[in-house]
Amino acid sequence: MLSKKLIDAINDQINYELLSSYLYLSMVAYCEDNDFQGAANFYRIQAREEVDHAMKFYDYLVEMNARVLLKGIPDPETEFDGYKDTFEKSLAHEKTVTKRIYDLMDLAIEEKEHATISFLKWYVDEQVEEESNFTAILGKLKRAELDPAALYMLDDELLKRVYVPIAAE
Ligand SMILES: [Fe+2]
Ligand SMILES: [Fe+2]
Repeated sequence: MLSKKLIDAINDQINYELLSSYLYLSMVAYCEDNDFQGAANFYRIQAREEVDHAMKFYDYLVEMNARVLLKGIPDPETEFDGYKDTFEKSLAHEKTVTKRIYDLMDLAIEEKEHATISFLKWYVDEQVEEESNFTAILGKLKRAELDPAALYMLDDELLKRVYVPIAAE
């Protein structure tokens, strides 16, 4: 049986993954409103993936016979300062998520909870990918800043992102 402290921390992370989904959905609305169609598509998929991250934690608690407890999700930010701002805020957000996953891992290690240590490794790897994706997009954005054609190409690239359920990865 998982400790109450660990169950509480995982429930908090379910909430935070859903909050992440809500933030990216808010970015979808902003991008749609500003005709950033590729970015809107990119964030729609990002939002779905965050729900998958929440559900992976959710199913883990169920599997471990622990109780899932849902909490309210705070209002997401709704105003952004352009295309690049959304990606800068996304990268900053993902860095916060990484820190939270590391804190969860520290707790699991402290409690010698080997099943949870093994389970959390997936999230450690996922966060490397999340930060690297946003860093790569920001790098392209910086190079495209003075070149509208390059910016158009980047948005076109983001339009091509397709949703892949995490179980199928
Ligand atoms: Fe996530
Ligand atoms: Fe994420």
